[in-house]
Amino acid sequence: MTDPVFLITGASRGIGAATARLAAEAGYRLVLVARDQARLNALATRLGAPDRVWPVACDVTDWAPLSGLVTRVRDTWGRLDVVFANAGASVVTSFLGRHGAPPEEWRDMVLANVYGPALTARATLPALIDSGGHLVLTGSAAGRGVRPGNLYSATKWAVTGLAQNIRAECVGTGVRVTLVQPGLVDTGGIPAERAQDPKLDPADIARAVLYAVGQPATVDVNEILVRPAGQGPNR
Ligand SMILES: NC(=O)c1ccc[n+]([C@@H]2O[C@H](COP(=O)([O-])OP(=O)(O)OC[C@H]3O[C@@H](n4cnc5c(N)ncnc54)[C@H](OP(=O)(O)O)[C@@H]3O)[C@@H](O)[C@H]2O)c1
Repeated sequence: MTDPVFLITGASRGIGAATARLAAEAGYRLVLVARDQARLNALATRLGAPDRVWPVACDVTDWAPLSGLVTRVRDTWGRLDVVFANAGASVVTSFLGRHGAPPEEWRDMVLANVYGPALTARATLPALIDSGGHLVLTGSAAGRGVRPGNLYSATKWAVTGLAQNIRAECVGTGVRVTLVQPGLVDTGGIPAERAQDPKLDPADIARAVLYAVGQPATVDVNEILVRPAGQGPNR
């Protein structure tokens, strides 16, 4: 089988799962990555035949299993064409300590949101160079503006920088790099103070991802900002 292979981190729910659905419909074979194997298995069962959907439990902040997974994908399926570095986490923070999670709980978010996509890029780019492939990273509208006390926003500024620095190193390799920056998406974890804000559906972001990867090899869609109609300027 020669169908192209699309690897998605954070695939078990939300934006990643919605992108998996559209990518399956577009004819890709899928590698679905998250930490919860049972949830990935359930999604894989809904998406298609076992020889086309491969659910793999892996923590994207853990280098050895992540790089080993990429080796197994190449050995088994022979190619890797699109990688969506999408896994991420969010906790509410305040540098003045006025609200939010205690600092001990900040570490996992920083690792998932910054170290995770950096390792995902490092693990997959050699395969993407071989295929003339495409790396897509999930940043955020929060990675463009100032949010008082918000460390999550700072991690997404880091993803903005990651995408630009990776793209700069990839010049001449044939690899394209797209940064997708969603506004508020209804994936179940919206804080109470934003409950009334306009929201996107995860499928709205999935369509943006498929748009970017569906362009001709000569077109590199660098950035896509998608916000719900009516979302305020600093959201
Ligand atoms: N929802 C929004 O409003 C919004 C807006 C802008 C940007 N984003 C970004 O979009 C991305 C997806 O968000 P979402 O709303 O779809 O989130 P979600 O529903 O909470 O899903 C997060 C996904 O990431 C996985 N994940 C988390 N940490 C991981 C780790 N260390 N290793 C492997 N997988 C991990 C989770 O699965 P396991 O727990 O099983 O590992 C899950 O599949 C994130 O990067 C998020 O920051 C979201």
